[in-house]
Amino acid sequence: MKDTILEVKDLITTFKVDEGKFRAVDEVNFTVEKGRALGIVGESGCGKSITAMSIMRLIEKHNGIIESGQVIFNGKDLLKLKEIDMNVIRGNEISMIFQEPMIALNPVLKIGNQIGEMLRIHKNITGKENKNRVLEMLKLVGIRKENEIINSYPHQLSGGMCQRVMIAMALSCSPKLLIADEPTTALDVTIQAQILDLINEVKEKLDMSVIFITHDLGVICEVADDVMVMYAGKVVEKASVKEIFDNPLHPYTIGLINSRPENFKRGEKLKCIEGNVPKFSELSAGCEFVDRCYASMDICKNSKPTLKVIKSGHEVRCFKYSE
Ligand SMILES: Nc1ncnc2c1ncn2[C@@H]1O[C@H](COP(=O)(O)OP(=O)(O)OP(=O)(O)O)[C@@H](O)[C@H]1O
Ligand SMILES: [Mg+2]
Repeated sequence: MKDTILEVKDLITTFKVDEGKFRAVDEVNFTVEKGRALGIVGESGCGKSITAMSIMRLIEKHNGIIESGQVIFNGKDLLKLKEIDMNVIRGNEISMIFQEPMIALNPVLKIGNQIGEMLRIHKNITGKENKNRVLEMLKLVGIRKENEIINSYPHQLSGGMCQRVMIAMALSCSPKLLIADEPTTALDVTIQAQILDLINEVKEKLDMSVIFITHDLGVICEVADDVMVMYAGKVVEKASVKEIFDNPLHPYTIGLINSRPENFKRGEKLKCIEGNVPKFSELSAGCEFVDRCYASMDICKNSKPTLKVIKSGHEVRCFKYSE
């Protein structure tokens, strides 16, 4: 039987802009099973980060509003928790790592103190035990000379090392769920591969669940078990990684797969999905993807498709697959 750690139900998050209110996250539904990794993929502006920030309830700080829905984590709806109870969950049971470690790390605090602080606040681990645990975490994320590193400041470390420190911080309280939002985008490919291996390794070791956000399907192949493709705030396709690559259905997913660099031969013109994700003011009355879709039909211009189960474990939002 599947053991669900997180269930997001009908989540709607909006922002107020000059033209009105728009849904950055539009009725999003998904589950994350224990010990599995869900990849969320889509172009810039599709709502990936806002989905993650809504789960963590960090969106109000950015003037976003969670209008409705449920975020059920370990049986509790996080959207109903008091802020003080949410603080116990954040960083402790659900941790997040971001694209830019330099922004997330405190520049005036030594690395050891930053990781130690997490353990002190959330687990009340102090003194010698605290230091030992910090050293253990640094070792876990593959940092050598950990005794030196605890006394360093972030600016003394490379980008890859800072990202490892961020991961050590995120894992220090043994979270049940790790949300990684483009954690390797700012790194070169070799370091990227090492960080992806590391996330896979600790996921297995700690039996942790992971939500991995990226615009790169290559990265999805490396880390995810299941995939959710987002477009203009909506889920357009959901399936296992194998199924998405063997049998992609939504024209947007097919476009993303075809525009992967490994699908090009030398001298060939780069294939890409023409156009851009529509702005709020440009959204059509029909399918949000209609203007960029090679398979669009009349119905797509005026009606919105719903997410349909095509076969067990594979859902798609496209009229092409409605009977
Ligand atoms: N603070 C904000 N105020 C208004 N609109 C916002 C705000 N933050 C994000 N948005 C809008 O919400 C939509 C979703 O943004 P989000 O950051 O989730 O995209 P993303 O999929 O993570 O993209 P990227 O790959 O560039 O990180 C975008 O249209 C974005 O412009
Ligand atoms: Mg983002």
